[in-house]
Amino acid sequence: MAEDEPHGGVKPVPDRPRVVLGVGGGIAAYKACELLRLFTETGHDVTVVPTAAALRFVGAATWEALSGKPVSSDVFANVPEVQHVRLGRDADLVVVAPATADLLAKAAHGHADDLLTSALLTATCPVIFAPAMHTEMWEHPATRNNVQTLRSRGSIVMEPASGRLTGTDTGIGRLPEPAQIFEFTSNVLRSAAVRTSSDCEGDHCAAEASWGFTPVVSDLRGRVVISAGGTREPLDPVRFLGNKSSGKQGFALAAAAVARGADVCLIAANVSLATPYGVAERYDVATTAQLHDAMMINVSGARAVIMAAAPVDFRPATVMDHKIKKGPDRPAPSIDLVENPDILVELVANRERQALEQVLVGFAAETGDDEGTVLGHARAKLARKGCDLLVVNDVSGGAVFGSDDNHAVLLGRDGSERALDPSSKIDLAHAIWDAVSALWSSRTR
Ligand code: CTP
Repeated sequence: MAEDEPHGGVKPVPDRPRVVLGVGGGIAAYKACELLRLFTETGHDVTVVPTAAALRFVGAATWEALSGKPVSSDVFANVPEVQHVRLGRDADLVVVAPATADLLAKAAHGHADDLLTSALLTATCPVIFAPAMHTEMWEHPATRNNVQTLRSRGSIVMEPASGRLTGTDTGIGRLPEPAQIFEFTSNVLRSAAVRTSSDCEGDHCAAEASWGFTPVVSDLRGRVVISAGGTREPLDPVRFLGNKSSGKQGFALAAAAVARGADVCLIAANVSLATPYGVAERYDVATTAQLHDAMMINVSGARAVIMAAAPVDFRPATVMDHKIKKGPDRPAPSIDLVENPDILVELVANRERQALEQVLVGFAAETGDDEGTVLGHARAKLARKGCDLLVVNDVSGGAVFGSDDNHAVLLGRDGSERALDPSSKIDLAHAIWDAVSALWSSRTR
């Protein structure tokens, strides 16, 4: 497949994805209102299907007002439209939040005694359960078996969060935060939409990520390591040399990789963002030396490494143990700098030395100048670093940093060049993973 074809992409992301939001009968049903709002505000067409028990916690009027659609729990409502079949068949995604122990049991055993369980039996799209229940119920062998059954059939059962439960209890069993469910489900929806089931052959799709679910599409099988953020080199106890990197692109890469089945290790340099749902390992570092060490320790066994972090290239030769003072008779200090290791270059050398089948991706934030264009500089950088792909951002005028959107050109070591449409950082993340996945496929052919 040519580099500039979207990998496996024939079915575009629908303009207005159809989401069935199933709501189980637990106190966390009120949190599903927030999830519903996140979906509707981002252009999803949501049909809410509460169970009868869920309507005892949050009434139909609330769901109808928030979704703008009639709501029913019952297969006998709207019979001529055969809603219990149509809902599941037409959906691009079904998400059940909260999924109670009872609902997981019914789904695992194929019950169809209300509209939601019937829709679950007719759904051919990704199905995601976000459980919420007391710790004892989550840990009971019956629930463990039901979760295992659902996962083995390709449904995604999220891990519940830990924290305050109903009453005075605390422990595992809390509904993951609505924003987390939304981010995760949106990623699953995106990755499912750009791939057809014909791309899923053999164990390619039956792969199980080590943190425990079998995604509907899992083209990113195995361990991937992503660095994110920007390093800081201390000058004195309060000052540092740093850069503008927010870490958003690296975190988007991590979230996208999780949704596509990868076992993700995220190394974050000075990033204050929450860890995306399902990231197996996160390590926080401050300086380039720490980032270097964390990368070298963790890349072992990785099928892909993406250096999205912006490491500071130089560090002060001496770090003052007291604050550098200014004053009328003090000259402005000059700072001696020493060069930091180039982590990407070392990763490439490491791969060559050990003859590893590892895809290495670099990022380059470039500006054009008298000596060359943005792409000219980037091509030279790709050759210098020796990685497989270089994601090039034109940052003239400070564009991109901290923003939720990004635009880039993807340069390949094979000479390929692909402009990626301006898009959200999460869409760009999926485009980058598409290119990594295509490289893996071409190498195993
Ligand atoms: N990089 C690295 N170690 C460094 C500097 C950069 O691993 N000490 C990686 C970055 O994570 C990125 C790629 O190299 O993936 C390009 O980073 P960039 O800062 O653009 O390149 P530099 O080599 O630092 O070149 P310059 O800043 O001079 O353009």
